[in-house]
Amino acid sequence: MKKYLVIGNPIDHSLSPKLHNYWIKNNSIDAIYEKKKIEDDEIENLLAKIKNKTIHGINVTVPFKKKVIPFIDKLSLESDTTQSVNTIFEENDKIIGHNTDIEGFENSLNHIKFNITGKKVLILGAGGVVPSIIYALNKMKSSEIILSNRTKAKAEKLKDLYKNINIVNWGELPNFDVIINATSVGLNSNQEIGIDLSKTGKNKFFFDVIYNPAETNFLKLGKKLGNKTENGKMMFIYQAQKSFQKWHKILPNVNKEVLDLLDD
Ligand code: ATR
Repeated sequence: MKKYLVIGNPIDHSLSPKLHNYWIKNNSIDAIYEKKKIEDDEIENLLAKIKNKTIHGINVTVPFKKKVIPFIDKLSLESDTTQSVNTIFEENDKIIGHNTDIEGFENSLNHIKFNITGKKVLILGAGGVVPSIIYALNKMKSSEIILSNRTKAKAEKLKDLYKNINIVNWGELPNFDVIINATSVGLNSNQEIGIDLSKTGKNKFFFDVIYNPAETNFLKLGKKLGNKTENGKMMFIYQAQKSFQKWHKILPNVNKEVLDLLDD
C-alpha cells in the first residue's frame, strides 16, 4: 500500500486527508493519505522517506512551503519561481518539489467563469500562498497587481520574486477590480480585516483564500456592497486535484459529491 501525507503545523484542521482518501477509494487505488504535524528539524528525515520510497507523496502546508526547499533535489519551474512547494514526490531517484496552488487558484476562477485578464488586482497579505497567486495572475495577464501587507517589509521582499508588483501601505485603498484576502484574518469568524472597504462600490470581485468559515466578514461586506464573491474552497479542491494527478496519473473528479464532502 502506498503512503501519502500532508505536513504542517498546525495540521488538525486539514481537510486534505478526507479529500484524497475519497478519491483514492473512488479510483480503487491501494493507498492511504494521512496528516502529520511536524517541527522544522523533522523535515529532512521525512523527505528522505520519499527517496527510499517508504512515503510516496507529501503535501506541504503552512509554515513549511518554503522551508522544505533545501531538502529537495529538483524544483519544478512553478515551485522555483514562487519559492513555494506544496507537492513532493520521487522521480528518477530524485526528490521533486512542485507547486499546484497556482493551478488551484487559476482553476477556481475558471470554475466560476471569472475572466481576470486585464483586471486590476489588489492582494491583502504576503504570506505563504501569495507568490502562487501572483504567478497565476501574471499567467492569466491581469493588468496590474498591487500588494498590501501589515508588515510592509514582507511585501517588499516579494518584489525580489516579482518585479511587476506595486506595493501600497497597509490601510491604503487604491482602485481595483478584484480584491483578494490572502491574510489569515477571518479564520476566526469575528475577526475584521481592519481596512475601511465601505467606499469600494459595487460590481467588483471579492476573493477570500479562506474557506472555513465559508463566508468571512470580508466576503460578507463585499456581498452587502453589491460585489461578486468567492471563497477559497475551489482553490483548495483544485490544488488537491493536481497533486493527486501528479502522484497517481489520474485526474480525479470534481463534482457535487466532492464539494459536499468538505461541508460535513
Ligand atoms: P506566514 O506569514 O507564516 O506565511 P500565512 O498564514 O501564510 O503565514 O500569512 C499570514 C498573513 O496574514 C500575513 O500576510 C500576515 O501579515 P504580517 O506579514 O504582517 O504578519 C497577515 N495577518 C495576520 N494577522 C493579521 C492581522 N490581524 N491584520 C492584518 N494582517 C494580518
